[in-house]
Amino acid sequence: MATAEKSSKENKSSRTAAKKTARASGTKSAAASTDARRKRAQAVASKSAAKKATRVSAKDDKSLSDLFEHALGDIYYAEKKIYKSLPKMIKAADHPELVQALTSHREETAGQIEKLEAIFELLGKRAKAEKCDAIDGILEESESLLEDFGSSVAADAAIIFSCQAIEHYEITRYGSMRAFADALGMDEAKQHIDDILAQEKAADASLTELAEDSVNAAASDYDEE
Ligand SMILES: [Fe+2]
Ligand SMILES: [Fe+2]
Repeated sequence: MATAEKSSKENKSSRTAAKKTARASGTKSAAASTDARRKRAQAVASKSAAKKATRVSAKDDKSLSDLFEHALGDIYYAEKKIYKSLPKMIKAADHPELVQALTSHREETAGQIEKLEAIFELLGKRAKAEKCDAIDGILEESESLLEDFGSSVAADAAIIFSCQAIEHYEITRYGSMRAFADALGMDEAKQHIDDILAQEKAADASLTELAEDSVNAAASDYDEE
């Protein structure tokens, strides 16, 4: 065999061998990456199963009665804070009917606190307030509104503005609690909630009436002058 031919044959066979090695190593690395993918998928699946298991056990731990009790602690905290906040608003109010409405609603609030304590008693629990961020926010805002508008002609309108936010907060909370009590067959608690809810709705309606009939008009008259 001529030397050139021999060397060409040798080159060809070494290229073939190299190709074979490359194919083999490609197959190996493809297998390795499939394996890694499978492991990753398994890890994700087991993580999500663990999360699900936590959720399921959390679901098992809490019931509608627990939610009712939480809501009760929440609104108990709110009513106590509202009771403490009202004197400042009463002092800043100018319209005699507004002063009267806020004063009598403060008295109702004292009665509502007692009703909530009666509900705690029905549950066989000691009355305990749970910090409620929602009412804290509303009351903080009403405080700063009072600072900004308290000595202006729009003071009464600002007080009604704040108080209606409070009333609406209370109406949503008592509305939900009423439905919980109904679902739980807690008739006596539901009756107390119904009574309170009626007072909150009436307070809200009388504030609307007062705003529309005189307070807003008096403040806007001043704007027109
Ligand atoms: Fe209330
Ligand atoms: Fe109220």
